Amino acid sequence: GLRKKEVNVLCLGLDNGGKTTIINQLKPSNTAAQEIVPTIGFNIEKFKSSSLSFTVFDMSGQSRYRSLWEHYYKESNAIIFVIDSSDKLRMVVAKEELNNLLNHEDICNKKIPVLFFANKTDLRDALSSVKVSQMLCLENIKDKPWHICASNAIKGEGLQEGLDWLQGNFP
Ligand code: GTP
Ligand code: MG
Repeated sequence: GLRKKEVNVLCLGLDNGGKTTIINQLKPSNTAAQEIVPTIGFNIEKFKSSSLSFTVFDMSGQSRYRSLWEHYYKESNAIIFVIDSSDKLRMVVAKEELNNLLNHEDICNKKIPVLFFANKTDLRDALSSVKVSQMLCLENIKDKPWHICASNAIKGEGLQEGLDWLQGNFP
């Protein structure tokens, strides 16, 4: 059959946001983990959509590992940025890390798509994706295609919508 186009996706966001849970849902069920633990350093995962073959770098969001992120910017073709919508206290930290990313020399000149998941929408304190978008000032991103999806990674809700958007927005 036709070879699928291979893309490298970098999955970023603060610790406890749900990155690994999201990626685990996107993997074929026979390779999915039963139990999710906080990521140490990073893990490399692979899965396919209808037209693309994804290699995902699932980075740890813990502060001590965030310095690893930038080493993977050059080779990335897309970014998935995961936010815990219920973590209002750390929304400013998420915004700071996002700005560091977008202003980095290996990212700022690339027109790669950035997909945001406003995750954990099932929690009672969760902010809407519109509110998360406002708090992170996403409307200021003018030079890259971006999209935000509300998600519940535990149930897998909102993930396919995000993946469909990503698939349609590669340069
Ligand atoms: P690091 O690897 O430390 O950077 O964290 P991470 O972003 O990979 O988060 P992880 O997937 O490990 O999830 C952290 C916790 O949040 C786990 O206990 C998950 O079960 C939980 N979680 C993930 N997604 C959701 C969600 O949509 N709703 C709820 N209620 N909990 C979630
Ligand atoms: Mg993780």
